[in-house]
Parts: sequence; structure tokens; C-alpha cells
Amino acid sequence: MNSIRLVEVGPRDGLQNESRPLSVEDRVQMIEGLIDAGLRTIEAGSFVSPKWVPQMAGSGDVFVSLGQRKGINLPMLVPNLKGFEAARDAGAEEIAIFASASESFSQKNINCSIDESFERFRAVLDGARKAGMRVRGYVSCVLGCPYEGEIPLSSVVSVASRLYDIGCYEISLGDTIGVGTPRAAVAMVRAVEEEVPIGAIALHEHNTYGQALANILACLEAGVTVFDASVGGLGGCPYAKGATGNVATEELVFMLEGMGIRTGVDLPKLCRVAVQTAAKLGRDPVSSISKIIATRAISIQTETMCAAAD
Ligand code: HMG
Ligand code: MG
Repeated sequence: MNSIRLVEVGPRDGLQNESRPLSVEDRVQMIEGLIDAGLRTIEAGSFVSPKWVPQMAGSGDVFVSLGQRKGINLPMLVPNLKGFEAARDAGAEEIAIFASASESFSQKNINCSIDESFERFRAVLDGARKAGMRVRGYVSCVLGCPYEGEIPLSSVVSVASRLYDIGCYEISLGDTIGVGTPRAAVAMVRAVEEEVPIGAIALHEHNTYGQALANILACLEAGVTVFDASVGGLGGCPYAKGATGNVATEELVFMLEGMGIRTGVDLPKLCRVAVQTAAKLGRDPVSSISKIIATRAISIQTETMCAAAD
């Protein structure tokens, strides 16, 4: 059975688009809850312009409050050298940079062309190398763009391989607006795999059209072993109007555990974080499982479920 790794992006992707920003204290509490639930890699925030994304202001304080934890990886998203320096000064050991396979999305999201973004990334990678920090790379719009529609696979492959070549240890392929369907997702992964080893490919699915779990299952069967997810299914991108959150971590965990793939995540604890975070944001949980938990219609018996799958 595949051994998989989950990358929890709720505290960053999940919160960056919410109309009610969470305080530093609430974000720290959310991340503590995720660690307690068994998540080991948690994107804890971003060092972007607070004028563009005010929800992520104070990410340095979030990181410093959490401190270094043995066995816990807390990557921070950065767009440029300024963001890198802030992450390094806060003590981050890993950062994530983000590029786009679509020129229009690159302009809207980070105010520069794809080529210009790589100029910025080179300086970031240099700094990270000197500071001994690991760098993950995202590619947005791998299965469609909110401004350009269909994106040629050659653009996705080109941006993914450029990120890998400049030193990103893992490339997370982002279905930013959740328009992908399973065969398209697998074809995209197969194309990227020509240039980037499958072990260095992650899938970052948004669930706008309800396809995230289907796409993940198809790509899992195609050999992908790293999946990004957001607790409660929270999230969206400020520069992709109407795009909803990532696949809900609890739904992904439920599916994987049901297939006999161990995640190390305690599902009831995770659902508690989803429900508590949604309450702080003043909205209902998005994921089906958390909605059921919130209304106490069922209690989740993970052990029974897993035993049935063995
Ligand atoms: P810009 O305006 O082109 O940058 O923004 P600039 O260099 O001209 O600087 C303008 C101002 O921003 C200056 O401040 C800078 O100091 C400041 P002022 O002098 O006006 O007071 N600034 C910064 N402040 C804090 N941290 C920084 C930073 N850099 C400059 N790092 C920039 C360029 C990239 C900064 C801007 O466009 C930005 O912050 N964009 C936000 C992008 C973002 O956060 N998008 C959402 C995350 S990506 C995503 O969700 C997709 C993903 O999930 C995958 C997927 O789903 O596809 C990863
Ligand atoms: Mg995203």
C-alpha cells in the first residue's frame, strides 16, 4: 500500500481569503490543534504584502509563537526576497515559492510575468541555500485558469521543471479553481513526470466543482504520494474569484484510512479543529464530515472504519 504524506495548508490557503481575519492567537491555536491531530507538515502562513492579503499579516508572530517543534515542519509561503528575509528572520526552516502556468494569473496574483517571477525566485533560492532552508514550489492553474481558461500542458510542464531545476525539492501542482477532472489530472501529472520525478510531485486540489477527491484518487493510483489539503475545506485564492477551498483534510483522511492507507491523523480531533475554526470565522464548516460533526449527527469511529479496511 502507498505511503503518503499530507501537507496541511489550512492556516495559509484556508485563511487567506476569509472576510473575517483570524488573530495571531487564533491561528496559533488552530495550528496547535492540527499538530495535536497528527499533522506533521503544516503551512503556517505567508510573507506577502499585507496590503494585498491582510489576512496573513502577523505570520511572523504566528511562527515565532509556535517555536521549533521536533518532527513538525512549518513551511511559510513567500513571493520574493523580502518575504524570504522575513521568513528566515522568523526562524523558518522551509519556505514555499509560487509560480503560475498562466501569464494572466501570474500578473494578477504577484504582479509580474512568469519570467519575472523566476528572476525573483533565483534570489530567494540563493538566500535559502545559504541559510540551509528547504524550498517547495507551487504551480498554479495547472488544470485551468480563471482568466485564460484552458492552459497548455507544455506551460505546466515548463514552469514545474523550471521550479525543480532551480532547486525546489517538491513541486505542488495547483488546480487553483478546481476545474480538473480525473483523466485530465492524470494526463497532467504524466506530462510533468517526464521532467520531474514522481516522488517530487505533489497535488494541490481545490474543490470548487467537487472533483478534488476523485482527482486525488486517480493521481494516487498514478503514483503521486503527496497531497495538500485544508482542514474544514477552507480556502480559496484572492485572485481566483469564486474558487473555493482545498480538498478538506478530514475527507481526504477518511478516504485514505478507509482504503487502508495510514495517515497518522486522529479524525475526531481534526474535525474539532475544522468546527472550531469555522466558528471563529463566523461561518459553517464546508466539508460534509465536519457539518455532520458540528450538528452531532454522528460520531466518527475511525478505528472501526480502519479495521474494516484491513
Ligand atoms: P508589488 O506591489 O508588485 O511589489 O507586489 P513591490 O515590490 O512593488 O512592493 C510594493 C509594496 O509591497 C512595498 O510596500 C513593499 O515593501 C511591499 P510600500 O513601499 O508600498 O509600503 N512588499 C511586501 N510586503 C510584505 N511582504 C512582502 C513584500 N513584497 C513587497 N513579501 C507582491 C508584489 C508579490 C508582494 C504582491 O503581489 C503580493 O503580496 N501578492 C499576494 C500574493 C498572494 O498571497 N496570493 C495568494 C497566495 S498564492 C495561492 O493561493 C495559490 C496556491 O495556493 C496554489 C494554487 O492553489 O494554485 C499557492
Ligand atoms: Mg491554493
